[in-house]
Amino acid sequence: MGDIEKLKITIDRDECIGDSLCCNEAPETFEMDDEDKAVVLETSTDDRDTILEAARSCPVDAITIEDKSTGEKLCPED
Ligand code: F3S
Repeated sequence: MGDIEKLKITIDRDECIGDSLCCNEAPETFEMDDEDKAVVLETSTDDRDTILEAARSCPVDAITIEDKSTGEKLCPED
């Protein structure tokens, strides 16, 4: 089982420029929709590190991730 259930992932659709790096890094977790914006696949079985690395690869920091249990902000890094 993956770690997606433990993470709160938000994609700012206004910020997303359709770069798709996140989808390349973690295709099980992110995919492009028909407006060329990234969306999260809740069926993902990726582990936490894969998801975080993919999110951190976004050139415009459009992906925010928090740890659901602690509320800690994991991405983007300050
Ligand atoms: Fe959008 Fe960033 Fe992914 S621009 S498509 S969220 S890498």
